[in-house]
Amino acid sequence: MRIPFIAGNWKMNKSIDEARQLVSELLPLLKDIKTAEIAVCPPFVSLTSVKSLLLGSAVKLGTQNIHDQEKGAFTGEVAPGMLAGWVDYAILGHSERRQIFGESDAFINRKVLAALKHGMTPILCIGETLEENEAGQTETVLERQVRAGVADISATDAPRLVVAYEPIWAIGTGRAATADDAQTRCAFVRACLRAQLGDAADTIRVQYGGSVSAANAAEILSKPDIDGALVGGASLKAADFAAICRAAGA
Ligand code: 13P
Repeated sequence: MRIPFIAGNWKMNKSIDEARQLVSELLPLLKDIKTAEIAVCPPFVSLTSVKSLLLGSAVKLGTQNIHDQEKGAFTGEVAPGMLAGWVDYAILGHSERRQIFGESDAFINRKVLAALKHGMTPILCIGETLEENEAGQTETVLERQVRAGVADISATDAPRLVVAYEPIWAIGTGRAATADDAQTRCAFVRACLRAQLGDAADTIRVQYGGSVSAANAAEILSKPDIDGALVGGASLKAADFAAICRAAGA
């Protein structure tokens, strides 16, 4: 039984005060939801203040990125050990990091291993571009991103992993994949995970991300291989995010 997992990726939004405000609005709306796991992933600067607001609630905390090295001359970066014990999840390999900041599959894999080593659960993001989709290359891209992303994960750590399938053409466009297409892709992702990690694939949660909204969440989340959602824009509004979480927890 995989517990549905909804995570809000706030991206580069919300000041420290606004982050506190959003969490204060969210917590009362989420407190009756028992059957889904929920996490918020604010920017680095708000992690500590959001963490203090989450104490005593079931809502988990995630970071949007980490570096793979333990320490050193990496100006502007945050080491995994700095967040160990503070955050539960680490979003890694988001398409914005891959595309805008040039992160490679190999670098992302090192981050995944570093997150696991420091007790964080990686949310490994994968997904194809519109061009790749239209050229019929989606499965090739997903297979490569899974294979590279999970390389060298131990059998003990494998069941903890979360993978987010986020077609890039669906991110921030208001044009989500249909529930049936999202199911097909997430089932394929699980098959790739099985090829790499064996039976752990039954335990690993595969999220869908890309224009998930209060209106489409219930249908998407009803699919057997979709174990949750990674939510961008709609996670910035308390009522919308709570409605998505409720759709998962129903
Ligand atoms: P949107 O929900 O805004 O499309 O963003 C999805 C996403 O990139 C989450 O990581």
